[in-house]
Amino acid sequence: MQPSPGGTTPRTPRGMPDEKANVSGTQSSPGGTTPRTPRGMRTDVVTGAFGYSGAAIARELAAAGHQVRTLTGHPDRAPAGTDIDVRPMDFSDPDGLTCDLTGAHTLYCTYWVRFAHGESTRQLSVTNSGILFDAAARAGVQRIVYVSILHADPASRYPYFSGKGEVERHLAASGVPYAIARPAILFGESADRGAAASILLNNIAWLLRHLPAFALGGGGGYKIRPIHVEDLARLCVDLAARPGNVTVDAVGPESVTFKEMVMAIRAATGSRCVVMPAPGWLIPPASAILGALLRDVLLTAEEYQAMAAGLADSSAAATGQLSLTEWIAAHGGELGRTYANELERHYHPARVTGAPDGGRRRALPARCRRCPARWGTGARRSPR
Ligand SMILES: NC(=O)c1ccc[n+]([C@@H]2O[C@H](COP(=O)([O-])OP(=O)(O)OC[C@H]3O[C@@H](n4cnc5c(N)ncnc54)[C@H](OP(=O)(O)O)[C@@H]3O)[C@@H](O)[C@H]2O)c1
Repeated sequence: MQPSPGGTTPRTPRGMPDEKANVSGTQSSPGGTTPRTPRGMRTDVVTGAFGYSGAAIARELAAAGHQVRTLTGHPDRAPAGTDIDVRPMDFSDPDGLTCDLTGAHTLYCTYWVRFAHGESTRQLSVTNSGILFDAAARAGVQRIVYVSILHADPASRYPYFSGKGEVERHLAASGVPYAIARPAILFGESADRGAAASILLNNIAWLLRHLPAFALGGGGGYKIRPIHVEDLARLCVDLAARPGNVTVDAVGPESVTFKEMVMAIRAATGSRCVVMPAPGWLIPPASAILGALLRDVLLTAEEYQAMAAGLADSSAAATGQLSLTEWIAAHGGELGRTYANELERHYHPARVTGAPDGGRRRALPARCRRCPARWGTGARRSPR
């Protein structure tokens, strides 16, 4: 047993066997072996707390009374007066990452690059995830909760799934006790983008509102198990409190076909678009052309092919409770009103990896005074 970084709490033994488990989505705040900050608040680190799932996890943690620290490339998205302690997600500075993870109990990692763009590649996100886990181990973080993908597998023929499988393998080798949540498709609102944050559903709605016809590759009969982003957040916080290493399918209560989801969106939005079957081979080039017109990456070939191959489905027990079809029906008026552009979201303005203009310096923990150039914008900051 080792002392925790912040106090006397014993650390969970490392190297526990991975109990592949299905757990219920019941809410419980992480308790038990909790290192406390001097103010008596536990600190957890979340990547991308101003993004989608990271924001939902941060809300869940704040509601449980935890201090939230985030690693992000978009500090500019911090709402005014936020309580979140903001740090740079700068993988070129592993010591700085270690510094920013020091004193944290749990790291919630949502970080991933969905598709290659410019210098950002999927392989880079695999390497960077390893850098982050190693930094967490050095910092004495007690648990890592990783948001992966359903059917992640290093041997998968699909690079998204094999990359996630590699990250999971690196996590298991990090020595830090871990939990892995594997969603297939997320839905649900975010504070800043509303229902448009559900990229896939929103952009299907946008196409249904704007095009005369919508093509269902292979007829759209393949099953999917989306989970609400708040259910995913509750699951992640719940997994942080569980002992041992666990891997869980993060899936909602409904299993629908892709066609059923499209028809539900069509009905909810009042679209008159003709939905018709099309050969599967047509979808990747059609998506590429539409994406180019929209100056975005609408749907990658492998995203379509993996979904059509059934990788967005699972037979596991539900770990989320919120209904996809009810959510679609309730948000039809909002869905697809604007196109949700992923390139805009992630690359414009340029990502920030160093000190931002005007980023106010935070008071650093004593052990981190060696990297005072790092920045923070959180409100919870003691005066220097
Ligand atoms: N959204 C879905 O439908 C879905 C489905 C299945 C699995 N997942 C998995 O769930 C996790 C979270 O997804 P999310 O939709 O919640 O993601 P997100 O909020 O858009 O991003 C999560 C984190 O990754 C960073 N990131 C995203 N794109 C990046 C890029 N191109 N370069 C550098 N950093 C980047 C973000 O940086 P910033 O802090 O700068 O924003 C943020 O810290 C991912 O691992 C994803 O694979 C998502």
